[in-house]
Amino acid sequence: MSERLEQRIAEQALQYVVSPPTGSDPVVSFGSPAELYDVFDRSIGMKIESDQEPCADDAVLAAVESVLEYSVHTSHPRFINQNFAGPDPVSVVGDWLGAALNTTGATFEAAPVFTLMESAVLNKLAVVAGYPLGEDAQELPPGLFAPGGSTGTLFALQLARHRHQPDIVRVGSNGDRLCLFVSDAGHYAAVKSAALLGIGMDAVIKVQTDAGGAMRPEALVQEIESARKSGLVPFAVIGTSGTTVTSAFDDLHALADICESEGLWFHVDGCYGGSALFSSSHRHHMAGVERSDSFVWNLHKMMGMTQQCTALLVKDPHQLAPCFATGANYIFQPDKKHGEFDSGDRTFQCARRIDSLKLWLAWKVRGDQGFADRIDHAVRMADHTRQRIESSDGAFAMLVKGDFTNAVFVWVPPELRPLALSELSEDDRNRLHRVPPLVKARMQAEGTAMVGFQPIHGVNTFRMLYMNTSVTVEDVDAILAYIAKYAEEAWATVAEGDDA
Ligand SMILES: Cc1ncc(COP(=O)(O)O)c(C=O)c1O
Repeated sequence: MSERLEQRIAEQALQYVVSPPTGSDPVVSFGSPAELYDVFDRSIGMKIESDQEPCADDAVLAAVESVLEYSVHTSHPRFINQNFAGPDPVSVVGDWLGAALNTTGATFEAAPVFTLMESAVLNKLAVVAGYPLGEDAQELPPGLFAPGGSTGTLFALQLARHRHQPDIVRVGSNGDRLCLFVSDAGHYAAVKSAALLGIGMDAVIKVQTDAGGAMRPEALVQEIESARKSGLVPFAVIGTSGTTVTSAFDDLHALADICESEGLWFHVDGCYGGSALFSSSHRHHMAGVERSDSFVWNLHKMMGMTQQCTALLVKDPHQLAPCFATGANYIFQPDKKHGEFDSGDRTFQCARRIDSLKLWLAWKVRGDQGFADRIDHAVRMADHTRQRIESSDGAFAMLVKGDFTNAVFVWVPPELRPLALSELSEDDRNRLHRVPPLVKARMQAEGTAMVGFQPIHGVNTFRMLYMNTSVTVEDVDAILAYIAKYAEEAWATVAEGDDA
């Protein structure tokens, strides 16, 4: 009986994967928490009861329908909310296959195929990034998969700290007041990692960016100098390749030069923009990544792998074991066959999901060209957005002129066109700031689109970014039309002060 139920649930899931909502289907059927509880009360309830009995098959199937109906349809071409979107279907089934075989990637013994596969994928990623491969690349891949970009950053900074003080893993900190540098547009993973590493969030020095959102190398030099003068001990620099909001790229060669002359670990956060490497038209953004000590790369963003799929490449993978190994002899027995292939003692995790299979499978199915096409498509959609904004007669204004996947802009009410942000009255600035959340809420309520917003120069801006290969120029135009219409109506309400 239960087998049949599982099969039917799998069929529901497969149907969704091969034929996800699109066109005039809603991007989301948005419900409040109370409404969602009500929906599930009609089938099997949301809460797990204290005396939970097995539920009837039909009720379970109805609940699965509700899961599908009320979740956000990230494959929908009008979901451009974040820097991930609907997955490549090959990746979904690859993930299922890995789950079906439910094992851990920690040892060759438990994951013989996946150990070799992870190594193959990491080797290829390293080649794409221009990292050199060691002679023992078969046994020792140039890094490992990590459970997400933030965790990959944490691991990289632990490696950096370990190089600075090699006995730190045994005796703890020698008291150096460590600090590291990242741009003020860099991801918050840096400060979270610093908190977990025990060096404190204040140890992360935010370096000024230029108008496009890339780190100013001369500002980095100044920050390093003033940190040293005040008794801090710099140990690492994070270069960001593809900032979360404006998709800006730091000049990696400039940062590598500084790290080399200052003796600092150079980590590249390419979680978002690292995938530019796949495209011959856009890989120039990543020039210099081959000079980094470590490079974290989320394939679950631009490459459409299911979350999560993160590679942490390490220039010298021999550094991993001294930093992370404990030699647990119940699992990493020194006298077992092929133990040298075990990856588990080169990282922090014990159980490790099989995140390489889906990437390996998708790469074999799509080929290098298929991977390049994803990036080229995304930038083409962003270019189209930028063109539409430029030719909008001031109805939209770009706040940051980008050239990668993100278009960041405001809608401008007729009386404020052309927009001169620095000359806006406090009142108008506040009203403009209140428009995007209202537009967003309306889009959610109506299910018409999902678009992100965030403050830039103190004003909420829309962000359109393209992770989804099914987005067309018609979708872009339709979303811009929604924004213009909803924003105009929102402006009228904020102008009268009755939006609260
Ligand atoms: C630039 C950048 N770095 C790091 C991360 C964190 O990655 P993850 O969400 O996998 O932890 C993100 C996530 O959006 C990001 O945009």
